Amino acid sequence: MTARHRARGNGVGLGGQAPRQHFVHSADDGPRFPLNDMSRFLRASLGDGFGYTPGEQPADGREWVKLNTNESPMAPAPGVAAAVAAAAANLHRYPSADGEPLRSAVAAHHAVESSQVALGNGADALINDCLRAFCEPGTSVLLTQPTYSLLAVAARIHGLGAHVVAMGADGSLAHAFTTTPAPLRVLVNPNTPTGTWIEPEHLATALDGAAGVVVIDEAYCDFAPRSCIPLLADHPQWLVLRTFSKSYSLAGLRVGYAVGSPDLVADLRAVGESYPVDRCAIAGAHAALDDAAHHGRIVETVLSERRRLTEQFTARGWQLTPSQANFICAVPPTGTARETAEVLRAAHVLVRCFDDGGRGLLRITIGSPAENDALLAAIA
Ligand SMILES: Cc1ncc(COP(=O)(O)O)c(C=O)c1O
Repeated sequence: MTARHRARGNGVGLGGQAPRQHFVHSADDGPRFPLNDMSRFLRASLGDGFGYTPGEQPADGREWVKLNTNESPMAPAPGVAAAVAAAAANLHRYPSADGEPLRSAVAAHHAVESSQVALGNGADALINDCLRAFCEPGTSVLLTQPTYSLLAVAARIHGLGAHVVAMGADGSLAHAFTTTPAPLRVLVNPNTPTGTWIEPEHLATALDGAAGVVVIDEAYCDFAPRSCIPLLADHPQWLVLRTFSKSYSLAGLRVGYAVGSPDLVADLRAVGESYPVDRCAIAGAHAALDDAAHHGRIVETVLSERRRLTEQFTARGWQLTPSQANFICAVPPTGTARETAEVLRAAHVLVRCFDDGGRGLLRITIGSPAENDALLAAIA
């Protein structure tokens, strides 16, 4: 591994802007894909070793218990494959620019107007659209710490700084997150990598008086008690981001969406791709949304396995942050998180390792019952 590769893994592209090295992906948490050196033409402001390191995605078919990128342990709804195949018959035509009929189906699902929904190539694409739409280059987006590590990297790609406000140890929002001037503030609820969750009503109180646009990334919300979407009517400057990647088992299809007031949604559409979601993705996500029973089974499986893993890890002396997401965040009873991740890797169990300024912590996706059995056997 070269110095450049190490920088990519450890600094998550924050460069000089990271106030401290807490909650960043550990240098050795897995990704070992062959990165080329960058060219001399890369924008100088991005700097050497710039980039986001996604979690390792081993080639399909290899025997891994894959608990490192918060995917669903279950297959998508049975109707998805047929819907995607049917859509493939029309791939010579561009898709609907608004992602219809999926957009209207998502709107109906959340009891909002279709003008309040913008679809994207995953929630990640909508994060980029928010940065493009609401922040003048040279300004700073306001983030929490910890948060989704892609956010600061995406900000930098858009020529933005990232101003970071630390959360309380219990995942509470510091007052400075509301009062610090910024064109855009982004928080993740439930948060990653901790899994902590703030009740929507508490969030509304905490954010009272915040200027600019507030993005609430609810990628993991289906595993938590409630969404902020019902509060949007009273908070016209909020945008809620959601994804089909987690609770709908469609990480491979790449569909996310934003819900908010029609004018904010129009802003996102103005800066977004002309055709943000392809025909197969529209059809597949629509079929998944239609199968509420299957979605319920996915969520129920994750919640019951989350309870089981929480009990088992606690009984074995691990320190756990109470999680409302499809992962647990845990500190092993002895040694460092990185050492434990290596032990798990040797047992073919992939987890994600984070530096937190101490022994580190592991973010472990809730797998299927069989995968979780393998995890428990490996930590024993
Ligand atoms: C907080 C958060 N937002 C967004 C995403 C990405 O969602 P998508 O797969 O829809 O791009 C992730 C992925 O892990 C995430 O953790």
